[in-house]
This record gives sequence, structure tokens and C-alpha cells, in this order.
Amino acid sequence: MASSSLSLFFLFSLLSPILIASSPVQDPELVVQEVHRSINESRRNLGYLSCGSGNPIDDCWRCDANWEKNRQSLADCAIGFGKNAIGGKNGKIYVVTDSSDDDVVNPKPGTLRYAVIQDEPLWIIFARDMVIKLKEELIMNSFKTIDGRGASVHIAGGPCITIQYVTNIIIHGLNIHDCKQGGNTNVRDSPSHYGFRTISDGDGVSIFGGSHIWVDHCSLSNCHDGLIDAIHGSTAITISNNYMTHHDKVMLLGHSDSYTQDKNMQVTIAFNHFGEGLVQRMPRCRHGYFHVVNNDYTHWEMYAIGGSADPTINSQGNRFLAPNDRSSKEVRPHLLTFFFLFFIFFFEFLKPISKFSLH
Ligand SMILES: *[C@@H]1O[C@H](CO)[C@@H](O)[C@H](O)[C@H]1NC(C)=O
Repeated sequence: MASSSLSLFFLFSLLSPILIASSPVQDPELVVQEVHRSINESRRNLGYLSCGSGNPIDDCWRCDANWEKNRQSLADCAIGFGKNAIGGKNGKIYVVTDSSDDDVVNPKPGTLRYAVIQDEPLWIIFARDMVIKLKEELIMNSFKTIDGRGASVHIAGGPCITIQYVTNIIIHGLNIHDCKQGGNTNVRDSPSHYGFRTISDGDGVSIFGGSHIWVDHCSLSNCHDGLIDAIHGSTAITISNNYMTHHDKVMLLGHSDSYTQDKNMQVTIAFNHFGEGLVQRMPRCRHGYFHVVNNDYTHWEMYAIGGSADPTINSQGNRFLAPNDRSSKEVRPHLLTFFFLFFIFFFEFLKPISKFSLH
């Protein structure tokens, strides 16, 4: 057992640089069309399937009365840029039985932390309802699914989930809220390694240099920094069917205008409900390509969707129910865009016009 997990570890260390350096898809519009095709198909089946909802992700697994026996078929249900995230598919089922998180360097078998740091693919489920108050960030290893279906699982009151330099992660059906900062201590991130963590942002889900990530059907609220932030060269991400409430800076996709590697960032934001008590960043985008489709915006205080640094934001089929406040109803480019356009106006003969689209 020890030697087989050791050799697995070497296999993954050889593979991981290749897997992490995920290149963007050449033509993002093809992925957009594929999303529309699957939405259309789901709608066409509405008349025939009694369980059909018109939501292609849900209809993919909820129509299976035996879903609990076939949990891993969820991995085939994603749409959009994160569609190929396989999570822990083809790995063992790991059942979390212990909600504690007492030792973050040597986590106890049965805990969520023990499960997520393993090198082998794992499909992680929960033995019963539980509230997990993490002592430090939950640092995930590649090829994991955290599947909360069938139990009411809260990750709350402490630091939350970190997806850093890893790939193929599915997070489904968790309640993630009241996340706090952690850090200034050692935390284990694989069976063979632990390291010192500086103070964390306090996000619900923090994606840092991660790829092939799918966050589906989670409720997220009231965290210290973002609910879901994806930065530092992260790409191939789908964020779908989530219910987000009571939070200021909801979703940051790209952390700085000068970090041009985020040009490769491709994210699908689909079928989410942005609800009461939200203020801004649903999402706030930089550099990459963002397909924001079929979301329901029922509350925002400052703005819903925004961006800077020449992002392409393809917003389709969203419903915006503006608050009764004039400034929240405007559709306008970001202030920086005005400076950008101003710049082009005066220097158009010196500099070719860059592409900017905010559909
Ligand atoms: C989806 O259906 C709409 C409305 O019928 C249609 O305009 C669109 O072309 C379809 N898209 C795809 C990719 O099938």
C-alpha cells in the first residue's frame, strides 16, 4: 500500500506540470455554442421526461432514480469551460465520518482534510449531516470530488477551501459560509508534504493557478473576502447552480490588471442565483473570456457584472431584477474603459485598437 501510493505520488508529480499548464481553448465561441446546444436539448426533452427541469446539468443526473449508486456519473454533467473537470471519477469512494479538524499537519483518517490531501483520485462523500469548522484552509490535492449530496454539510466558521496549483476538482452540494482568514502556520497539502501558509484571504472557495474546476450547487454566504475567487492563471472553470447571498465582493476572476497570464482565463458562470444582501462582483472580470449565462440576479447594491483589463464578457439570458435605486439600473462600461476609449481616441494612429467587448 505504502509503495503503491508512493509510486502514484511520483506519477502525479511527473504529470502535474503538464496538467496544470492548461492552455485555453482556441475558440471560446465553440464552447459557448455547446452550452446553448445542451440547454436547448434539455428544454426539448421537457415534454417527455417527468423529472426534466430544462437545466441540462441537473437533468443529467437527477433523472436517474439510482443516482446514489452512480454518484460518479455527475462528473459527466458539467457544461462550459469546466466541462472536462473529472474530479475523483474512477477513484474510490471515501466516506467522511469525522467532522473534526484538530491536526492540520497530520489529519486523522475519516476527516475531510485527510481525504482531500491524498494523491489518488477520490470521490468524497459524507456519512451524515455535519458542520465542519476547519482550523486552517482546506488545501486540496488534484482529482477530488467533494460530493455533499444526501447529507447537509456545512463548511463554516473557520477558513474554507483552497484550490492551489491543482487540477480536476469538483465541489458539489456544500454549504460554505462565514469563512475566515487562516494561516501563519504549517498545513499539509499531500501525504508527502506540508508547508508554511501565510495569512489567507478568507474566501469561500479560493482558486489559485488551478484548472479544470467545477463548483456546482453550493450555497455560499458571508465570507471574509470573496465567495469564489479565481486568480493567478486559473482557467477551465465552471461555476453553476450556486445560491449566493449576504456578501460584498462576490466573485473576483483575475486579481490584477498587470497579471497578463490571466488572458488564458476561461470561465462559465451559469444557472446561479445571486440573491439577497449581495453588493458587487457577480463577477468582476479581468483579461480572459467569461460566459455569463442564464443566471438570476435578484439583488445587488453597487453593480452586478463588471470588469477591467480588456476582458470579454459574454452575458446571455440572464435575468436582472434591479433594486429600486437609479444608479443600480445603469448599464455602463467600467470607468477605466472610459480612460481606455479616451486613450484610443487620441492615439489611434500610433497604436492599433485593442479588442474590447462588453456585450
Ligand atoms: C438554441 O435554441 C435557440 C432558440 O430556438 C436557437 O436560436 C439557437 O440557435 C439554438 N442554439 C444551438 C446552438 O442549438
